Order: sequence, then C-alpha cells, then structure tokens
Amino acid sequence: MPLVNTREMFAKAYDGGYAVGAFNVNNMEIVQGITEAAAEVNAPLILQVSKGARAYANHTYLMKLVEAAVIETGLPIALHLDHGDSFELCKSCIDGGFTSVMIDGSSLPFEENIALTRQVVEYARPRDVTVEAELGTLAGVEDEVNVSAEDSSYTRPEDVEEFVTRTGCDSLAIAIGTSHGAYKFKPGTKPQLRFDILEDVSRRLPGFPIVLHGSSSVPQEYVEMVNAYGGAMPGAIGVPEDQLRKAASMAVCKINIDSDLRLVMTGTVRKYMAEHPADFDPRAYLKPARANIRELVKHKLIDVLGCDGKA
Ligand code: G3H
Ligand code: 13P
Ligand code: ZN
Repeated sequence: MPLVNTREMFAKAYDGGYAVGAFNVNNMEIVQGITEAAAEVNAPLILQVSKGARAYANHTYLMKLVEAAVIETGLPIALHLDHGDSFELCKSCIDGGFTSVMIDGSSLPFEENIALTRQVVEYARPRDVTVEAELGTLAGVEDEVNVSAEDSSYTRPEDVEEFVTRTGCDSLAIAIGTSHGAYKFKPGTKPQLRFDILEDVSRRLPGFPIVLHGSSSVPQEYVEMVNAYGGAMPGAIGVPEDQLRKAASMAVCKINIDSDLRLVMTGTVRKYMAEHPADFDPRAYLKPARANIRELVKHKLIDVLGCDGKA
C-alpha cells in the first residue's frame, strides 16, 4: 500500500469514535519506535514532519524512512507537514510526495488566514493531498514561533463554518486549552480542556474532522527520569489522558504528540549514559530509547486514541 492521505482515516475515525495518532518524526529510531508499535496493534498512523525536522534531517531522508515504514508494516500511513507556515513550504512538501499538509495561518487575521489556506487547498486538492488548517492559537513554542499564554486564544465557534466553507480545508485544528511543549498548565491548577467549545464546533460542522495539537500528556515517570539523571524539568504538566480519550470519542480525529517522544528518548538516553559511562556505541543507547518509544506509543494507540485494530 502506498502512502495515503487522511480522508479515509478521518472518516473511519469520526464514525468509530476514536482518533488517529499524529507523531512527529525526526530520525530513524523515532520512525521505527512509532511504526513498530502501530504494526503490533494494527493501527493507522500519521507521521508528521515540522519545518524544523525537515531542516534537521532533510526532506528526502525523512520521506525514505517513512516509505520504508510503509514497506515494513503494510499499514495505512499518511506523511504530513506539521505547521506549514507558507504556501511555498506546503507546495514543496506536496511536490516532494507528502500526502497531507497543515497550513498554519492561525496567527494571521481571519481574512488572511482564509486566503492563505484557500491557496494551499487549491494546489493540494487536484494532487489528492489533504489540508489541515487552524483557527485559534495555542500557547507554547513551535519552530521559532513562541506564543505566550496571554497571546493564545480559544477558537471562536461562531467562526468555524465560514472558515471551513470558504477555505475548503479537510480538517481543522482548534484551540481548547492544549498547548505545545512540556509545560501546559500552571502547577497547582486543575488541567481542564474546554469541551464546551469542542461540542459547539462539532455541532456547527457535523461529520467534520477536528484536530488537537499540543496533546502530549508528559508522563511523570519520564519527567522523573530526566530529573534523576541531571535534567531539570520542574512543573512539567501535560494533558490528562482521560480528557484526550474523551476528545477522541468526540469529533477529534487527529491528536498530535511530539513532546512525549522527546521526553522518553531523552530520559532513556540520560539514564543509559549515567549507568554505562564507558559505553560509546550510539546503538547501545538508541536501542532502549527506541524500545521505550515503542511502548509509550503502544499505550497511546490502545488506551488514549482507541485506534488499535483500526488499520
Ligand atoms: O508543534 C510543534 C512540534 O512539536 C514540532 O516541533 O518545530 O521543534 O520540530 P519542532
Ligand atoms: P506536544 O508538544 O504536546 O507534543 O504537541 C505536538 C504538536 O502539536 C505538534 O504539532
Ligand atoms: Zn502543533
């Protein structure tokens, strides 16, 4: 099976009350850990590449790694551009074989976001590439853009029908209280997503796939591992997994996870290095990191997203 776009996976996820995991990939071990987990539980997958990942690892290397994952697993896998910030970047990914792109005009005024998204949709649609757009802004860091909590804003449900109709986008990322990175909620406060906004949006867009960014749950065992081996991540708090599960059972069809993978990889490597200070073979420390990514992703696919057995 070749790489697929997200249309059919989202239609099935919407009807089935689950979400597809969208995991950020930057190197071979991350691709392998994620796809081994998905193969084990027979789950569809979205592997996504940010502008920064593409600059780090090179478009062709990432493309070929993901193609290798398709050959090895036979799973339906979409290769998606995460947070595309220009028409040119989206076009380059579409021309280079990506099957899905995000155009993130969420920091632009409404009309400019519509115009940019529309331009990408017009290029993508005849090429059978699906387009994710965003309304509302999340706090946190993505590529070089740092959005402070004060500048973030929830999606306004009254805007979504006009936005989707005028742009023709295939899915919509909304802001309901998630944020990028490992520090999502103030320590001492109760993390709570705005399900009322999600419900209002999905009432206005029946059957339309919604996307959640910033959905790492920041497992405390790995925060403690990083802390125990020389790191310092006080107050790292993620989105509670039961709230992600609830969102996945609603209109949310794609849930984005990156920080958790970073945390698992870094925690595992730190621990290994501390316990084996004389070992200098990269395979020795990347192997347990890849294995722990596989276990974490398996848990997400089964217990959080509910997409096991849905490939
Ligand atoms: O939302 C952003 C993703 O976590 C990607 O992060 O731009 O540092 O690759 P990055
Ligand atoms: P996290 O930082 O919560 O993993 O979010 C990742 C994301 O939204 C990628 O687009
Ligand atoms: Zn994101």
